Amino acid sequence: MLNSQPALATALNHRSIRKFKEQPIEKEVFDSIIAAGQMASTSSFLQNVSIIRVSDKAKRTQIRHICANAYQGKLGHHYVENCAEFLVFCADTARHLHFAPDAQIDWTEVLLTGAVDVGIMAQNVLLAAESLGLGGVFIGSLRNGMAELSELLGLPHGVVPIVGMCLGYPDHDPGQRPRLPADVIVSENTYRPAADTDLQAYNETVREYYKNRSNIDLDWATQIRNNLCTEIRPEVLPFVQSKGFAKK
Ligand SMILES: Cc1cc2nc3c(=O)[nH]c(=O)nc-3n(C[C@H](O)[C@H](O)[C@H](O)COP(=O)(O)O)c2cc1C
Repeated sequence: MLNSQPALATALNHRSIRKFKEQPIEKEVFDSIIAAGQMASTSSFLQNVSIIRVSDKAKRTQIRHICANAYQGKLGHHYVENCAEFLVFCADTARHLHFAPDAQIDWTEVLLTGAVDVGIMAQNVLLAAESLGLGGVFIGSLRNGMAELSELLGLPHGVVPIVGMCLGYPDHDPGQRPRLPADVIVSENTYRPAADTDLQAYNETVREYYKNRSNIDLDWATQIRNNLCTEIRPEVLPFVQSKGFAKK
């Protein structure tokens, strides 16, 4: 068993890493990280997640271009190409269809189940990686081109890509992003809407964070508007439907 940091300390130290050393991840370390993912809880023991390890440089470049659609064509996400390992986590019902060709994967619940399981497994992978001194970042931007990515990775019917992950040895320390206070996100027994004063205070905390980190004037409310007050990946529904999901 490899030496690792305790789970709580690792989780509390999280920050997304987007700049990596050239150093590869040792096989034993990589295998341990994947083993941690394998042991993640899974809905109804369905084990409906597959991981595609993308080692092919040309495919990495194509995935980086797929991600770029998020920035109106601006090619960011250099870390998709430069990280030691790039993983794509897929919601996968192909093994279930193998045993039960009449499995009703078209219920929206099945896709939700797969997406939840992906998140749980992927977070296990990232936490294990961080506990071993690696860093990483989730890549949701690959959903800017789910059909193209699906083609690139040869995903069959019943399998859709949900999120990617860059992993490697960190080559920067971006610091931690301040989170909403526990008091705002945790209620007891009955949902408690956040107070405007608490939200405004947090908005200022985020503004301060961006000012200190990048000398830019950006607050959380603006980020929300930038992300949610626009058309959001309209091709997702027809794509997942083309793979057999979310028809009812
Ligand atoms: C599902 C998911 C998708 C994400 N997609 C991207 C992405 O495409 N590109 C990126 O640079 N960061 C991505 N992130 C990282 C978030 O931006 C980051 O977790 C968030 O800003 C909080 O920062 P922290 O992880 O450093 O605490 C993603 C995170 C999650 C959970």
